[in-house]
Amino acid sequence: MSIPVLTIDGPSGAGKGTVSRLVSKKLGWNYLDSGSIYRSLAIAIQNTSVQVSDVDAIVEVASAMALEFECGDELVVKLNGENITGQLGLESTGSIASQIAAYPSVRAVLLKKQQDFKQLPGLVADGRDMGTVVFPDAEYKVFLTASAQKRAARRYKQLIEKEIDANIDEITSEIEARDRRDRERETAPLAMAVGALYIDSSDLTIDQVVEDVLNLIR
Ligand code: C5P
Repeated sequence: MSIPVLTIDGPSGAGKGTVSRLVSKKLGWNYLDSGSIYRSLAIAIQNTSVQVSDVDAIVEVASAMALEFECGDELVVKLNGENITGQLGLESTGSIASQIAAYPSVRAVLLKKQQDFKQLPGLVADGRDMGTVVFPDAEYKVFLTASAQKRAARRYKQLIEKEIDANIDEITSEIEARDRRDRERETAPLAMAVGALYIDSSDLTIDQVVEDVLNLIR
């Protein structure tokens, strides 16, 4: 029996996570937040003395790490039994995640962990290469983006709401640096999959984006 997959790719802060979670709830499908896998590895590395430049050691940590995802109202992630949800959203975690995500051997280890999420009755997968590399045969593909300023403003609001100290200028330059790294890397760069529906969410509400995505499936 074929399992339907909807991929939502795009740069950080475009609203992929919120939209994907809402769409997966409406459809009753499973949800893969692939960024959280790269972020979990970033935390695993920070917990050891491994350097961000030491690819072989990072591959070893990636192969050994045990991840558990509990998808309730909020995504809860456990790394080797320890709840790391609080650290996942930090900018420093995202920055390390994007540096280690550039290594092809690291991506290869994480590929199967992501593909294992494809289970009945269906999957909504968000990330950078869901429609191009991880689920190239997905039936439904979306590329969701927004201007860097809008994305930085949203990120800032999220952090402040979580009572995490934030500075809008630092967030904007961090987002621009991460975009550049994600777009320019050689392996699985951030790119729009052929045939994907392009949505610029700069001037759209979350509900409007969710509606556009659901229309694609209907
Ligand atoms: O989506 P999120 O901001 O949580 O992702 C953190 C980082 O992980 C990204 O900047 C990107 O470098 C990397 N990533 C990736 N491929 C994915 C998801 C995330 O390279 N499918």
